[in-house]
Amino acid sequence: MHPLFEKRRYLIPFRSTLLPQIFTDTLVIGGGVAGLRAAIEAARPDGDDGRAACDVILLSKTGFDATNTAWAQGGVAAALQEGDSLEQHASDTIEAGAGLCDERSVRWFVEQGAERIRELIDWKIRFDRDPASGKLLAGREGGHRANRIFHADGDATGREFQRLLMERVRALDGIRVFENCFALDLITPGDEIGSPVRGAITHHPKFGLQMIWAKTTILAAGGAGQLYRETTNPRGATADGLALAYRAGASLADLAFVQFHPTTLYLPGANRALISEAVRGEGAHLIDAAGQRFMVEVHELADLAPRDIVSRAIVDRIASQGGSHVWLDCREIEGFAKRFPGIDRVLHRFGIDATTDPVPVHPAAHYFVGGIRTDAEGRTDVPGLLAAGEVACTGLHGANRLASNSLLEGLVAGAACGRAARARASDLSNTGGPSKVVSDIRPSEHGEIDLVDIRSSLRSAMWRNAGIERTGAKLGDSAEMFDFWARYTLDKIFDDPEAWETQNLLMVGALVTRSALWREESRGCHKRRDHPEASAAFQMHDLWRRGRETPETIGRDELFSASGVECGEGRAC
Ligand code: SIN
Repeated sequence: MHPLFEKRRYLIPFRSTLLPQIFTDTLVIGGGVAGLRAAIEAARPDGDDGRAACDVILLSKTGFDATNTAWAQGGVAAALQEGDSLEQHASDTIEAGAGLCDERSVRWFVEQGAERIRELIDWKIRFDRDPASGKLLAGREGGHRANRIFHADGDATGREFQRLLMERVRALDGIRVFENCFALDLITPGDEIGSPVRGAITHHPKFGLQMIWAKTTILAAGGAGQLYRETTNPRGATADGLALAYRAGASLADLAFVQFHPTTLYLPGANRALISEAVRGEGAHLIDAAGQRFMVEVHELADLAPRDIVSRAIVDRIASQGGSHVWLDCREIEGFAKRFPGIDRVLHRFGIDATTDPVPVHPAAHYFVGGIRTDAEGRTDVPGLLAAGEVACTGLHGANRLASNSLLEGLVAGAACGRAARARASDLSNTGGPSKVVSDIRPSEHGEIDLVDIRSSLRSAMWRNAGIERTGAKLGDSAEMFDFWARYTLDKIFDDPEAWETQNLLMVGALVTRSALWREESRGCHKRRDHPEASAAFQMHDLWRRGRETPETIGRDELFSASGVECGEGRAC
């Protein structure tokens, strides 16, 4: 890797003592399910006086309607129905994870997840119910052997999560909400690996740069879909949390594993809007340019085969027939508009009626399976820093995520981080507090660069070389390109969020490429054409940390128990 990837500790020069100072017990970075749930747990009042035991700042880079959570169409999985069991949910998750799930992690999330969903039901979440009996409706998606997916308003489960959790956040006095506020970097008193995180330096369009000092910082900044030219993710998913954690010295795990969703709307100029897997669950099927159903000859589960297999079948079909997409035939689904009101609205905006017209679709990057290595309580390997949700890697998803397990993970990990932050807030030896931190960066001697061009080139390179199918040769080319871009981009000082995002994308894109190059096998959602089989020699997690050229590796079941913590509340799992 180019030395600038390692040397660049902060994105901008600053002196902490010269900036406005804000203090809190807990700083939560990220406004999706994991961040909201963490803030709610941390600020939960302790006694009868209704006062929060822990003061929280909840920071979101965008508005709360632009998070990946708010966009989630699929539902949330939990083994709550008769005939289902925690064991079955765990075993389906482990099967999808292709030999890399940390099994203790899976059991913990599945068990705690059922509790967290019951809690949401107590909080009056508006899950879809049978109109006659009033009972909760539970559907099935690819890879699940039981009906355990709960939806809200058909295809708007994420929006309902966001609404309900925001309502609870707003009702808690202990939470200050900072919207449209960009976290540039986590602050550590020293630059060396292991120096504790004490908060973050942030930028707000109205208040400028500020230091937020915290006893505990919880990163819940979501994924990295914008690394790819084609993505289902919102504009804000620019890998910021991963880059912040890496610069602060945390280990990032399993970065090669990026899940691609087979069906996004493919129209020139339109956003790659997700067409939920649930649509295929209701009977829609893929057809090619000749009008043929092609998934039946690819996999016994046909259109409901695992996502990586469907995505590859689509790109293979396009490569052999020409053109730019295939079609999703939804014409046999009765009551499409009622079952999928959000998708129906999007399609109509582009003049497509799913009851009469096949829908043009193409795969796109959807979910970042790897992330910041965390244990049962969301602890990273940097003191003072916790992580939850898509930004974290807990071993739950292994090498491929089972559909509808991500909102569940965000709820469980968010609550666990919130609990840990409460405990840390009342620990009097944890003073948090300001330190004198100085970031000196010399102005670049290289010429001006076109950042818009760099961002678009890197997204195209990731799509071509680190996308649905990879080879060592193409990944090697990409690694060189990243080093070249780093030389002219990471040496610069910028003063606006878009440029900082591009620097973060560059850093994480380089790490994803290195991890995919290192993993000389095909497993889960990582497919190497030059190493088409899974290899026992790679049945391990790869950890990338600042200052190391090659990854540290640990065994399959060693991720979750990173810091020797037993599951959650002192219980072994
Ligand atoms: C979908 O609705 O297809 C996406 C659900 C998920 O990714 O869990």
